[in-house]
Amino acid sequence: MKTFHLTTFGCQMNEHDSERMKGMLAGLGYREAAERDGADLILFNTCSIRENADNRFITHLGEAKRLKREEPSRIVGVGGCWAQSVKEEVFRRYPFVDVAFGPGQIHRLAEFLASDSLTAQGYFEFEGFSGDLPMRRERAFQAWLQISQGCNCACSYCIVPSTRGRERSRRPADLIEEAQTLVGEGVREITLLGQNVNSYGRDLGKEERIGFSELLRELDGIEGLDRIRYTSPHPKDMREDVIEAHATLDSVCEHIHLPLQSGSSDVLKRMRRTYGRDRYLDRVAMIRERLPDCSLTTDIIVGFPGESDRDFEETLEVVEEVGYDGAFTFLFSPRRGTEAAELPDQVPHPVKKERMARLVELVQERATERARRFEGKTVEVLIEGTARRDPGALRGRNRQNRTVVFDGTGGVGQLVEVRIEATTSQSLRGTEVLASRTFA
Ligand code: SAH
Ligand code: SF4
Ligand code: F3S
Repeated sequence: MKTFHLTTFGCQMNEHDSERMKGMLAGLGYREAAERDGADLILFNTCSIRENADNRFITHLGEAKRLKREEPSRIVGVGGCWAQSVKEEVFRRYPFVDVAFGPGQIHRLAEFLASDSLTAQGYFEFEGFSGDLPMRRERAFQAWLQISQGCNCACSYCIVPSTRGRERSRRPADLIEEAQTLVGEGVREITLLGQNVNSYGRDLGKEERIGFSELLRELDGIEGLDRIRYTSPHPKDMREDVIEAHATLDSVCEHIHLPLQSGSSDVLKRMRRTYGRDRYLDRVAMIRERLPDCSLTTDIIVGFPGESDRDFEETLEVVEEVGYDGAFTFLFSPRRGTEAAELPDQVPHPVKKERMARLVELVQERATERARRFEGKTVEVLIEGTARRDPGALRGRNRQNRTVVFDGTGGVGQLVEVRIEATTSQSLRGTEVLASRTFA
């Protein structure tokens, strides 16, 4: 039996694509190798969102080169967004690579492996949909459901539209069927994936077109599906109907990841985000009013070209005002082929670092304050495993997507009630409420 080793970089979309690759490879009779140096097929699913993502991958690729030299019959394959962004150039720069393919071309890997091709091959069209491939899930009780592929936005810093193509929504009937199958297999929590989930459906034909909130409603109707999450919505498309879906549908969790990127309307304009600070804060106000218990998390870019001290202060102001439960913060990284890479007034690295430190401190301070609302409360937790730093304790997440570390007896995949006793910026700490005690 042949073996493969796959290393995944990047976002949930890539993690999910990797599950598809694994499912496909299992279908071809490949078995997963524990180590790279024991594999006949060395695969990478790459990301190119920031420069450090590229660099990390290139280091790994160096090891693949060495392994290929030791055993030339090994196959080296590179898939994902980095591959798509460099296309055929990958073979010029790294001649030991045998096959390269973009995110929409995962199925071509099977074609290549079945063909015994002796020449290097690259597949970079946008026609395919990895959503239709079999998959091998990483977790028994949680699953990704890819509702759309690609992105029609034109954020000036972002490489994704060029690596994943135009937005294409999957058909509602296919999504519901896939969700039903997952639930039938024991899945209790599904995370819907898309670059801009709340523009879902706009490209579908009239007869089958439904919007994102209707999709949530349909999925909520599936018996046995306890939790629905999604990532990411775009603030420009965050409308009342989606917020209403959170308020009225039991399975839709109380967590919204609403990427801010910057708190300055000037910067947002140059980012081509199509909303300003006020409009963003309006959406937040609408969420807070209708869903007081909802967690809000975000993405922020520090040091976008031309970001002045004043612009950055505005970002801090929004962070202060919103009070996020958490934020992913990134140093701006110029990406090949994007508009922002060519903008004047690039911010010097030390200035970016200094701003980042201030931002992270404020985010953590507010996140810790927000977490305190759970102290003394009983929350529902889906158990995911044992705690990373304390194997005697259990770990899971509550509906608001906070990590909860607790003492208890529940098993992985169970929903339990946990009473929260303490909080940090990263996690909540508590004790499982046992049924007998609940009714005592
Ligand atoms: N489609 C999603 C996620 C895109 S990538 C969305 O729009 O929310 C995830 C995050 O990476 C983005 O939200 C942004 O904050 C960050 N990012 C993207 N390009 C970047 C760049 N060139 N430099 C720094 N951060 C970037
Ligand atoms: Fe990139 Fe913007 Fe599309 Fe997100 S919405 S993937 S940041 S272009
Ligand atoms: Fe994801 Fe990285 Fe591509 S963040 S969409 S894998 S560039």
